Amino acid sequence: MKMINTLTLNPAVDKILHLEALQKNTTNRVLRTDTAVGGKGTHVSMNLRLMGRASRAFGLAGGAGGRYVIDSLTRWGVEPHFIYNPGWESRTNYLLVEEDGQCTLIAEKGESPPEKDIAALIKKMESLIGPGETLVLSGDISNCPDPLIYNRMLAALREKELKVVLDAGGETLREALAWPPYLIKPNLDELSALLGRTLRSVDDVVEAVQELSRYQIEIIAVTLGSAGAVLRTEAGIYQATPPAIKVKNTIGCGDSFLAGLLHGLAESWPLERALQWATAVSAASAESALSVGFEAGRAEALMQHVKAKKILGA
Ligand SMILES: Nc1ncnc2c1ncn2[C@@H]1O[C@H](COP(=O)(O)OP(=O)(O)OP(=O)(O)O)[C@@H](O)[C@H]1O
Ligand SMILES: [Mg+2]
Repeated sequence: MKMINTLTLNPAVDKILHLEALQKNTTNRVLRTDTAVGGKGTHVSMNLRLMGRASRAFGLAGGAGGRYVIDSLTRWGVEPHFIYNPGWESRTNYLLVEEDGQCTLIAEKGESPPEKDIAALIKKMESLIGPGETLVLSGDISNCPDPLIYNRMLAALREKELKVVLDAGGETLREALAWPPYLIKPNLDELSALLGRTLRSVDDVVEAVQELSRYQIEIIAVTLGSAGAVLRTEAGIYQATPPAIKVKNTIGCGDSFLAGLLHGLAESWPLERALQWATAVSAASAESALSVGFEAGRAEALMQHVKAKKILGA
């Protein structure tokens, strides 16, 4: 796999507030506060960096929050290619993490960036991204007035024949089936919403990904939280199960899973191994209190305890 590019149109400053236990209608005392970069694309780039892999992080950033995002990416060793504008403010998200590992995300919608910033970003992407490279489109675009903004960007980049990876739900995912992307990574809720029915078991998920085989999506990776993941390619259906761990913060596990999977694919590992690594990395990230990052040694150790196998042939 060639260079991986990520896109974050609505990055954030993640304020992680550690509480004993969240209680409504009363004052909650914060035990400790952490601050981290927020936004799924940036998280994929940062997690790839922890695996020793370079990527380009594209996006839009505004005001002091946006400056924090860009400076943090640089400190992490990620190449930031953001259109920065002091005239609007990137959002702040609040992550409430309780001592028993429960997490609640309170996400601002985010200010809308001006049209000229969007146009400048598309130009930048056209000039830097090479043919056949990977482009990861992820996360929340609730700040963008145009809900089909990804379609517009991909139209501008069509000639590059990019491998498009989509980590999104709702309308964005539904619209994308027609492109179609190279890889999608819905979680259980996103896949249930796409199919219009509640999926509960691994068998339900297997049936669902088989239904989606009529779209030309090369890899469908469905993440199932503590139950692991199910992955479908033309070669068959695979399942991975993580070991039991002590959870600290599961927000952002989807991003570390995706980074792990993309790294494995880029290294041309067999699918079972790539899936095993993705599962190990995301479990290690669930064990970390922050919303981005994981301990590399811990991911290597967990890898020995992740079960990954093909459960159905082509
Ligand atoms: N409690 C857990 N124990 C072990 N692994 C976990 C746990 N929660 C998540 N994971 C790992 O993280 C992966 C992604 O988790 P999940 O399905 O919750 O993603 P997500 O809902 O897309 O998360 P987000 O969008 O917040 O990043 C899972 O496939 C699994 O490998
Ligand atoms: Mg997710």
